Amino acid sequence: MSAPPAEPPSRHARPGEPSHEDDRTKRLLKWILSLDNLDEIRGHPQKVIDLIDEFSKDERMMTPQTMIELGCFVGYSAILFGDAVRRNGGKRYLSLELNAEWANIAQQLLDLAGLGDFVHILIGRSDTTLNKLYETGDVKSIELLFIDHYKPAYLTDLKQLEHHGLIVPGSVLAADNVLYPGNPPYLEYVRSTVEQKREAAKKGPTKGYSTEGMRERTVQSFMPEGDMPFLETVGNPNLVYKSELRQPEGHKDAIEVTRCVGVQTE
Ligand SMILES: C[S@@+](CC[C@H](N)C(=O)[O-])C[C@H]1O[C@@H](n2cnc3c(N)ncnc32)[C@H](O)[C@@H]1O
Repeated sequence: MSAPPAEPPSRHARPGEPSHEDDRTKRLLKWILSLDNLDEIRGHPQKVIDLIDEFSKDERMMTPQTMIELGCFVGYSAILFGDAVRRNGGKRYLSLELNAEWANIAQQLLDLAGLGDFVHILIGRSDTTLNKLYETGDVKSIELLFIDHYKPAYLTDLKQLEHHGLIVPGSVLAADNVLYPGNPPYLEYVRSTVEQKREAAKKGPTKGYSTEGMRERTVQSFMPEGDMPFLETVGNPNLVYKSELRQPEGHKDAIEVTRCVGVQTE
């Protein structure tokens, strides 16, 4: 019997639109109907009940204890995902935000939503904050990371996390806006093989942020000109990623969902 499938929370749920709960119920039905031993289950209420229990238990176990997001703004995604993580048994949601004024607005909206004690907004540049979380031992590995901040920092922040050993098999990354405004360096990296990444790493770390193929406007947004990433590193090219584009119907933008599935040693 195959294990029930897990998905990261859906980004595009809006009032009146299908929610994470709707997704879960559909996954439950699809999983049960796909079981090889369906004929043995048919006509046995207790077996159906056991399967529903098993599905719920597995989904809860697959919920991250800590979900981290890069880029809080006024807290829309922190409220949406924070609520989903808390409802599914998670422990906390960390939201990293550069702009103190926006963080303050987000805090008030989170308090209003009743999530003020569950979602922790950490003010500062993401790479500096991630480094603190690593050095203090507060975060020992990435479970689920939502990346939605300065586009040229997607890749440099990921490489910093890799460098510190925080990306491990099972880590899931969900990167927003990968088509609009787009993020070619990030997409190329997470879709590369270990061999391709090892080859690229021979040239050493990229200087500064990864801006290739991005519009000037994107490069200039949010961050003061001349800012440099906290750490220049090639990351860990030995991590094996499985990566796919998730484009909700009717949306021109998409999220790249990347799962670390192993470490290649040879
Ligand atoms: C697209 S908005 C985030 C939207 C939010 N995730 C949502 O869906 O509701 C990007 C946010 O990232 C923040 N930001 C940009 N660069 C950052 C950095 N290096 N570290 C932390 N936050 C950053 C910006 O100040 C801005 O609030």
